[in-house]
Amino acid sequence: MNSKVSVIGAGNVGATCAQRLVEKGYADVVLLDIVEGLPQGKALDILQSTPLLGTGKSIFGSNNYEDTAGSDVVVITSGVARKPGMSRDDLVLQNMAIVKGVTEKIVRQSPECVIILVTNPLDAMTYLALKVSKFERNRVIGQSGILDTIRFQTFIAKELNVSVKDVSALILGGHGDTMVALPRLCTVGGVPLSDLLQEQKIEKIIQRTVKGGGEIVELLKTGSAFYAPAAATVEMVDAILLGRNRVLPCAVYLQGEYGINDSVVGVPVILGEKGVEKIIEMNLTTEETAALRKSAAAVKEVIEIMKF
Ligand code: NAI
Ligand code: 2OP
Repeated sequence: MNSKVSVIGAGNVGATCAQRLVEKGYADVVLLDIVEGLPQGKALDILQSTPLLGTGKSIFGSNNYEDTAGSDVVVITSGVARKPGMSRDDLVLQNMAIVKGVTEKIVRQSPECVIILVTNPLDAMTYLALKVSKFERNRVIGQSGILDTIRFQTFIAKELNVSVKDVSALILGGHGDTMVALPRLCTVGGVPLSDLLQEQKIEKIIQRTVKGGGEIVELLKTGSAFYAPAAATVEMVDAILLGRNRVLPCAVYLQGEYGINDSVVGVPVILGEKGVEKIIEMNLTTEETAALRKSAAAVKEVIEIMKF
């Protein structure tokens, strides 16, 4: 297999994604940024780690979109990250201009690729990239649900002092305060979470998860999370390039699913070779459905700010 992944934006998330992808060893990687020297320097540094990996795959840093030509997957991380006190939605006007321009350029070079969006506000940027690219909706997918879910799993495992491997959970909705945790479906080694933790404790963990990105912004002061976001993004690349048909929460454009139209939110999908192979419509309670629709409506408000 001779796969190619391009990562746009060589900042914290982009460079960490590139590093993880090179370590996976299943694709050649192009790391692109608008800043001259930045992607070249980081790519060269990552390249110099490959003798210890023995994968034979390469990484190349560039400021030129022609180098991304023929990519199978393009990950868009370019944009501004939030600072303390900012919400993800505060980034919309700055990042929409960046994501629009980047999408136009990558589509010209890689018309058959699957695009994974990371730039915030995630759901609105996924919507924008879908409209600008004119791709089918299965090929423009946002990363957020995996990150929100792994944060939830981490906090539960820590609270119970059990292996994270045994915690199964799912978070749907937009990547923000309206995300929809489903504790009803969370299990620990098959045991319902509600048998292990009191409702109040579970609610506290959900609130920490909802504010999970903000907690890291407050600590870092100069940027936002990137290790877990990069790990979550590479999980999506894996599923697509290796045709794994993983069932994962991803941000996708909905056309009637869950009673939601013309908005993007995280829902469970089968992620495989073609991108989204299927959107799974699971049975939600009335309250969960209402929360998901409320989240989609909140995303729509951000989309409307873009007026494009
Ligand atoms: P960063 O500031 O470290 O990196 C952003 C990079 O984008 C910079 O190197 C910058 O030069 C580059 N860039 C800006 N305009 C560009 C353009 N027109 N073309 C190419 N490159 C351009 O930021 P970081 O931490 O990597 O975050 C990137 C984005 O991802 C932010 O919007 C952040 O909010 C978002 N994010 C989303 C997550 C999610 O779960 N969806 C998780 C973490 C971050
Ligand atoms: C996060 O949740 C910044 O969206 C990013 O950490």
